Amino acid sequence: MSDPYSNMKLVDENGVRLDGRTLDELRPIRIEAGVLNRADGSCYLEWGNNKVLVGVYGPREVHPKHMQNPLRGIVQARYNMASFSVSERKRPGPDRRAVEISKITSEALEAVVLVDQFPRTTVDVYIEVLEASAGTRCAGLTAASVALADAGIPMKDMVVAIASGKIGDHLALDIGRAEDNFGQADVPFGVIPRTGEIVLLQMDGHLTKEEFETVIEMNMRAAMKVYELQKAALVRRYSAFAGLAPGEESEPAAPAAAPVATGPMAAAPVAELGHPEGFKEPLAPPPVDAKVEAVLVEGEAAPEVEGEEVEEPNGDDEASSGGGY
Ligand code: CDP
Repeated sequence: MSDPYSNMKLVDENGVRLDGRTLDELRPIRIEAGVLNRADGSCYLEWGNNKVLVGVYGPREVHPKHMQNPLRGIVQARYNMASFSVSERKRPGPDRRAVEISKITSEALEAVVLVDQFPRTTVDVYIEVLEASAGTRCAGLTAASVALADAGIPMKDMVVAIASGKIGDHLALDIGRAEDNFGQADVPFGVIPRTGEIVLLQMDGHLTKEEFETVIEMNMRAAMKVYELQKAALVRRYSAFAGLAPGEESEPAAPAAAPVATGPMAAAPVAELGHPEGFKEPLAPPPVDAKVEAVLVEGEAAPEVEGEEVEEPNGDDEASSGGGY
């Protein structure tokens, strides 16, 4: 039987793709840092129709102990797709694909985390794909980097990941769902923007050497745009607390709306896209809520305030962020 999709036109005569994008256009991206209170660091990321949530814990002691490395720490990423993340219910639990993605993600993150600063420990990175629409490994890795920075984990930079490839005989940036299924090639790629070092590189399909080099260049250029969104998410997260003395009562300002990257990629060469010195300083933790702090100090129950819910302090309700080490 012939393939019903073999004639599917992924790019029209004007160079427009099925979802209306041009060949060098990213899907809309939104990144929020510090979205979970219990994790040491966290990030929520939307990339097209992908929705990914990441929580980070650590550095903390490795268990089982035989996995400890006396010379350096380890990064353990766990990629998981929710059952409801795809149209056919996914069977819960790890499969071969999740094991593979967890491994490549851990390796890419170990290239930026300063693991020699905390031997015998692990940094655990939990990547939950809530909705999947192609490129989830890249979305997960990009979000994981922001969550690590949000946790104050010492890093030399973040990792940005993106997958471009070939569809309908055209090279195309940021492969979407139908393009992933019916296209000719897909090249997931992760880079350290500050050094240009490639820490993730996979390929599904066939490309000539020249096509491969062009795809890498497209990925590299787009990665610099996504990098700006990662940094903007962290700046928004922490600027809300800027200027407040520790314990000061004022409510932090509501974070500004996240910028969304859309539109054709700028044609600027990678070298012109700048690598600001964003992550050399550890990020300050947010101030502890004044009400909870008062209860901790005085050992008394917090007074009921009419019309307002008073949070019960408990053992694991410490500072939500700022590194648990
Ligand atoms: O997500 P990514 O492109 O990194 O990995 P993939 O293995 O190339 O999967 C491509 C897409 O196939 C995913 O993003 C999902 O949308 C879809 N998929 C699915 O529907 N069911 C699965 N069990 C796995 C993937």
